[in-house]
Amino acid sequence: MTMNSGSSTDIAALFEAHEADRFDLHRRRLNEQMVRVLKTIGYDVGFCKGRGQYLYDRAGHRYLDLLSGFGVFALGRNHATVGAALKSVIEADLPNLVQMDVSTLAGLLADRLLAHVPHLDKVFFANSGAESVEAAVKFARAATGRSGIAYCSHAFHGLTYGALSLNGDDTFRRGFEPLLPDCVCVPFNDLAALDRALSSRRVAAFVVEPIQGKGVILPDEDYLRGVQDICRRHETLFVADEIQTGIGRTGKFLACEHWGVEPDLVLLAKALSGGHVPVGAVLMRKWVHDKVFNRMDRAVVHGSTFGKNDLAMAAGIATLDVLKAERVIENAAQLGDRLISELSVLKERYELLKDVRGKGLMIGIEFGSPSSLKLKASWNVLETASKGLFCQLITIPLFKEHKILTQVAAHASHTIKLLPPLIIDAKDCEWIVRAFDDVIADSHTTGAVWSLGKNLVEHALRA
Ligand SMILES: Cc1ncc(COP(=O)(O)O)c(C=O)c1O
Repeated sequence: MTMNSGSSTDIAALFEAHEADRFDLHRRRLNEQMVRVLKTIGYDVGFCKGRGQYLYDRAGHRYLDLLSGFGVFALGRNHATVGAALKSVIEADLPNLVQMDVSTLAGLLADRLLAHVPHLDKVFFANSGAESVEAAVKFARAATGRSGIAYCSHAFHGLTYGALSLNGDDTFRRGFEPLLPDCVCVPFNDLAALDRALSSRRVAAFVVEPIQGKGVILPDEDYLRGVQDICRRHETLFVADEIQTGIGRTGKFLACEHWGVEPDLVLLAKALSGGHVPVGAVLMRKWVHDKVFNRMDRAVVHGSTFGKNDLAMAAGIATLDVLKAERVIENAAQLGDRLISELSVLKERYELLKDVRGKGLMIGIEFGSPSSLKLKASWNVLETASKGLFCQLITIPLFKEHKILTQVAAHASHTIKLLPPLIIDAKDCEWIVRAFDDVIADSHTTGAVWSLGKNLVEHALRA
């Protein structure tokens, strides 16, 4: 029997033939509201190519991507090493997902991940960030025999039911209740509140992002150490959601390393995919893992069909190789420091710019109410129409005039988040600082930027 049927699906040709129909296809067959959003803000440029930190639109313009697919493209898009690793998996005819076997590549990736996080012993692989959160909730309950899960205000851990139950923002939860019972919300950076919440001794785990992605909120210097102490005192598992902050994003392999803490469970996903194959990983202490998989008849008590698939494992292995070979984490630390310091200088010149903060290449640029009367009136009109609208006056010109793709850090937020590929270089940093300087300068005059604001207000009122 021949292995090659002779048929072929030329995806590149399909893309080329139909890319111009993408908005119509989505309007008819997928999420029409997303199409409306993109058209309203002028992001419907038709991206046709992605390489490294750059995207290219139909007209051939080059964009600097400071969104990284929400943090997926730490190595940039289509990294050659990851691509070659994936091709080699397919060409090697590996025995993928036998199910009644154990995966060699999963064993290797687990070993390599734990070499980066030596205080932990075991790994559970999932297919996404949210699935890793779901696993952590189940493992924590099974390991402690407790039902409660504590989480933070403004937290984001994904949108499946368990993960949504730990979401600190009402806009995501509304309409989907009831959620998981026994979940308790505590303010981020509030150790006394955490202590009170855990003192019931009914809380299995405290799930927390070391740096909150929504709003780019940094922990107070002693917060995570305090979290660790309180969790230990109340025998609650300390779960660090490093799905966004992990794998080098903040200039260290884990963000937790900045504060010298050792969580009982660490969650990874996003960048581990190499930007190609969805994956999630829960790194944990052996005793926690052993409480779930405690007997032969429970060997498959948690898992999923595609977990540990060869392509995902290969993408993870190749990602860790590239991180090391190309000194990607060192680059994130160095260029992150540079960007934060150069963007901070702009605060002296612009009254609307209030704060520049972050670690490595996870950076928040916060705007706020101006002091001068001439700007105050315009700011108030925007704020009254829709809280957080001002940031669109920055992100839209950044995109249109400077070819920089960014995002507002959260719903109704005044913070713009930079989450670039970790491989950006000095020229990209110059591009970013020049663009922000230019756009922020414009927002301090009463010209074009505020007339864009007027349009946005009209849209907001119509919506
Ligand atoms: C901190 C954090 N946890 C969990 C998730 C959910 O990951 P996924 O979208 O892969 O389900 C995200 C996604 O943005 C995240 O930032």
